[in-house]
Amino acid sequence: MSDEKPSPDPSDQTDDVLARQYNEIAALAGGLAHEIKNPLSTIRLNMDLLAEDLAEMQGPGQRRAQGKVEVVRQECLRLQGLLDDFLRFTRVHHPRLQATDLNRLVHRVLEFFRPQAEEAGVEIVEYLDPDLPRVTLDPDAFYGAILNLVLNAQQSMPGGGQLMVRTGLCQRGVALDLIDTGRGMDEETLSRMFDVFFSTKDGGSGLGLPTTRRVVEAHRGRISVESEPGRGTHFRIELPTPPRLTEAVGGEEGRKEGGKEGRREGGKE
Ligand SMILES: Nc1ncnc2c1ncn2[C@@H]1O[C@H](COP(=O)(O)OP(=O)(O)OP(=O)(O)O)[C@@H](O)[C@H]1O
Ligand SMILES: [Mg+2]
Repeated sequence: MSDEKPSPDPSDQTDDVLARQYNEIAALAGGLAHEIKNPLSTIRLNMDLLAEDLAEMQGPGQRRAQGKVEVVRQECLRLQGLLDDFLRFTRVHHPRLQATDLNRLVHRVLEFFRPQAEEAGVEIVEYLDPDLPRVTLDPDAFYGAILNLVLNAQQSMPGGGQLMVRTGLCQRGVALDLIDTGRGMDEETLSRMFDVFFSTKDGGSGLGLPTTRRVVEAHRGRISVESEPGRGTHFRIELPTPPRLTEAVGGEEGRKEGGKEGRREGGKE
């Protein structure tokens, strides 16, 4: 008989080391982004003041100078937006959890989005299951995560279309579906959409979906996608509810689920 202890699984160690390295890099990058943010907002403020001063002046060079100031202002705005997105991405670590009515949260996002949707000719169809159990989540982080998906859907329908938003029970707990009739995604986009900084849009930061995925995974949930070029895209978020609730609805779920082939998981490949 040997009293040798089993050696630790090397893959666990690798995961630990990788997680530590990731956290260090994220903290470093987050710190750097933060340091850039402050002087950038001062530059922007000064550009705003300069634009006001120029507006009061007369002379041949005044208009040209105004144009240049505007270019710098716009670039500052873009960089501020990028840094905000980036900081949001690196911050999603410790969700502040509370029992939440997902329907109400989704409805709040849609109410915020409605004026923009009307302007863009996007019809919103809401099917929120009135019997949905409460889920434990961080409402602020989740609000942002859903908004990212809603905005992506709208941006995929430049000529208008329909966005269906649905909640309901699923095997793991509750599910949120967002189905748009937009341009859909080709194979390359589908395989890269969750990569940080991947974007097919002019001026897109490519942080929307990676942030949404991190929020969902921080809640032990999962995000999956089905999409077809020219037809549209279906994002699904599944969140666990307390085990007792999941068991209680388990029997019914077998019938509701199924036919999931072709779904892309948002998990790490
Ligand atoms: N509903 C959708 N329909 C079609 N393509 C989509 C949809 N959602 C995401 N995509 C594709 O996935 C890419 C990545 O999306 P993501 O939200 O991460 O970045 P983005 O929208 O380009 O920029 P931003 O950081 O401003 O959100 C998009 O550029 C787009 O090509
Ligand atoms: Mg986006």
